[in-house]
Amino acid sequence: MTSNDSTNAPSQPGHVRTVVVPAAGLGTRFLPATKTVPKELLPVVETPGIELIAKEAAAAGATRLAIITAPKKTGIMGHFDKHPELEETLAERGKTEQLDRVRAVDGLIDAVAVEQERPLGLGHAIGLSEQVLDDDEEAVAVLLPDDLVMPFGVLDKMIEVRKQYGGSVLCAFEVDPEDVSKYGVFDIEPSDDPDVKQVKAMVEKPDVEDAPSNFVATGRYLLDRQIFDALRSTKPGKGGEIQVTDAIESLIEQGHPVHIVVHHGARHDLGNPGGYIRACVDFALRDDTYGPSLHRWLNKRVAEENALDSFEETFQEN
Ligand code: UTP
Repeated sequence: MTSNDSTNAPSQPGHVRTVVVPAAGLGTRFLPATKTVPKELLPVVETPGIELIAKEAAAAGATRLAIITAPKKTGIMGHFDKHPELEETLAERGKTEQLDRVRAVDGLIDAVAVEQERPLGLGHAIGLSEQVLDDDEEAVAVLLPDDLVMPFGVLDKMIEVRKQYGGSVLCAFEVDPEDVSKYGVFDIEPSDDPDVKQVKAMVEKPDVEDAPSNFVATGRYLLDRQIFDALRSTKPGKGGEIQVTDAIESLIEQGHPVHIVVHHGARHDLGNPGGYIRACVDFALRDDTYGPSLHRWLNKRVAEENALDSFEETFQEN
């Protein structure tokens, strides 16, 4: 665990002190890897997803990272622990670059564990974080570690929107209308602002023709503290899990303002192998060490694949 003296600094209006990272899920889409390795520790190039999230939280000014962990996913917290033997060995061998990478999490943020004994849903996981909040924290941010939203900065915008309208603020992406059925879709009030809209309701994975918009939910939430009361009175929904969207719905019904910030940028779903591979390729292509040779290799490999496709087409035609 790292420590940071500013953890208990007085809460400023519009400042978010705690970021909650729900990481107690089973990761079934990534089995068998996730039988023993938490998906949050899988590296994007060389940095585990949980470290990318910690950096995003720290960049938004948060000083506490409340990681919701499962009893068997102990390695996640270990990533934030000091490793003196490793550091000594790296220093002795003059491996300064690697030493800097190991130390990148030191003092970054105060990582605290909250155990979720059983995976009873994202809403249940978020609800557990209330125990680590200080009394003066009026809102909490939730970042899902398997959702990479790039570039960093959307949380700052969400904090600004909460300052203006109060209530809770969620991050949204605009997708092609034919893709909406894969996502939670926002029903929004019409507005002139292309990037900030008030939410009337949320619809989980609607048919394309029933979708109220093509603005869909991502893994970034800025939730007013009232969310904890709403979660307490939320009954288990789909799959017996407590869904955070049900709690947000009930807040909207009570007249609590909920807005979305539309993010323009890239997004990667690290929770499934297809999205994870894309994230690795995307990050590696931007990397000075790995990018140039990966680019050349990918071009060659794609050309081979295209040649094979056209050979097969010609073969089938004849
Ligand atoms: P997901 O449904 O994407 O993750 O939950 P999962 O359950 O680990 O993955 P699959 O679907 O089985 O492959 C979104 C986030 O919420 C956390 C997960 O760890 C993930 O970061 N979560 C989910 C919890 O912390 N607790 C839960 O009970 C459920």
